[in-house]
Amino acid sequence: MDLRRSSLSALALTAAWLCGGIAPVQAADKVCKLEIAGNDLMQFDKKELTAPADCTQIEVTLTHTGKLPMAAMGHDWALVKSDDLTAVANAGAAAGLQSNYIQPGDKRVIAATKMIGGGQSTSVTFPASLLMKGGSYMYLCTFPGHNALMRGKFNFG
Ligand code: CO
Repeated sequence: MDLRRSSLSALALTAAWLCGGIAPVQAADKVCKLEIAGNDLMQFDKKELTAPADCTQIEVTLTHTGKLPMAAMGHDWALVKSDDLTAVANAGAAAGLQSNYIQPGDKRVIAATKMIGGGQSTSVTFPASLLMKGGSYMYLCTFPGHNALMRGKFNFG
């Protein structure tokens, strides 16, 4: 057995494994974390959310600070283009609670959490590449009727 040759190939394998372990895309990832809360008075605690332009991933955590159950005072957080808000809300209301009040496969919904009730918390993470810098976006709760009060401006960049 040629010891020298086998240790050289082991070195080469180790080097290849090390290089493969470095993922440049992940190293450059910047996850921006945003938080918002909803209450039993059908309100979000923020009228506006902003994600800086250098975010690559955006994580939004929704907390329901109320006590009412989902069937009575459900909240979710859905992100849409401003022009799509009403259509998304109407389609969601028709889709029903079993669909989290979001029409299944609705391409106008850029990101959305699940629907939650009082005392619960949920989050959604989505790539910032889904957004255009400076675009006009809004978030809403898709529970029927809630978007009248539960909506806000979402800024990217
Ligand atoms: Co709601």
